[in-house]
Amino acid sequence: MARIFSGIQPTGIATLGNYLGALRNWVALQQGDDECVYCLVDLHAITTFQEPAALREQTRQMAALLLACGIDTERSILFHQSAVSAHARLAWIFNCVARMGWLKRMTQFKDKAGKHQEEVSTGLFTYPNLMAADIHAYHATRVPVGDDQLQHIELANDIAEKFNHDFGVAFFPRIEPLVLKESARVMSLRDGTKKMSKSDPSDMSRINMTDTADVIAQKIRKAKTDPEPLPEHVHDLDARPEARNLVGIYAAITGHKVSEVLHRFAGSGFGPFKEALAEALIAHIEPIGNRTREYLKDPTALDRILQEGARKAEAIAEPIVAEAERLVGFLPR
Ligand code: TYM
Repeated sequence: MARIFSGIQPTGIATLGNYLGALRNWVALQQGDDECVYCLVDLHAITTFQEPAALREQTRQMAALLLACGIDTERSILFHQSAVSAHARLAWIFNCVARMGWLKRMTQFKDKAGKHQEEVSTGLFTYPNLMAADIHAYHATRVPVGDDQLQHIELANDIAEKFNHDFGVAFFPRIEPLVLKESARVMSLRDGTKKMSKSDPSDMSRINMTDTADVIAQKIRKAKTDPEPLPEHVHDLDARPEARNLVGIYAAITGHKVSEVLHRFAGSGFGPFKEALAEALIAHIEPIGNRTREYLKDPTALDRILQEGARKAEAIAEPIVAEAERLVGFLPR
């Protein structure tokens, strides 16, 4: 039995990108033999300023959404990162293992900091070390993510290798990312070259997992496309990012291959295709939004679920991180 670990930032509402790229795989992986540990990464969230009340609200909202998507706390551990101190302790050790040069190469940091590298928090810079700690604190080896996280996973492997080398042990195992090929990167509905993101200023650029049927239909109707009909062959989509994205979303949500979708819609304009797409999305997402709203009616129950999850998570992470501390040379706690 292997252990699976993954995390999501409780900032904003999860998008269709989060769902198709990662969350639906979190749910599917529960059916296998591996132990699943899923984390709301609130320590990562505060690398950019969050209003305290909003952070609390969004953490509960994300918990509700994960439950609504089908995360089953009988099968998986679901908790908030700040409740298990092992994450921050191991992250500190990793801050002292990772090299400046490694972090400077992280494209997500460069994208997020942009021209303001002197003004962003130091947490944003060391963010990948905390992410490595999240995974290694559980000796997890399988990590379901979208492809924007692959560079961070590679870094987590580099950190583990250096730790093992520095301390002369084979303590942290290698991590394997689990990426869903068809929907590893869902793009913005307004610009097919930009990732769909919770933080995009335009709400029309994304489908939120709590959007109502009307809103989903409107966003798909207004999604950017090009004037050509849908092509016959997958490679004909290469130079058509918006068309490619919408076809990819349709394939992922209906469980078909892109080639099968094109087989059905080749030669058709975007009108009928968008109608079919909106219908498929509404059928899939609207019930998730409804269940999310149900869970949110009882915030105390949500807090209790996360606290129970945190106790289970702690029972796994504590001995592993205590051993890492011993290897580093710290006296027992
Ligand atoms: P976050 O919160 O940005 O996203 C959560 C998951 O959703 C995936 N994702 C996407 N997949 C496809 N298309 C998109 N447009 C899209 N947008 C987001 C992400 O790849 C991710 O899998 N650093 C992580 C959270 C994290 C983590 C971890 C993940 C912290 N510790 C340990 C795995 C293991 C993040 O910010 O994800």
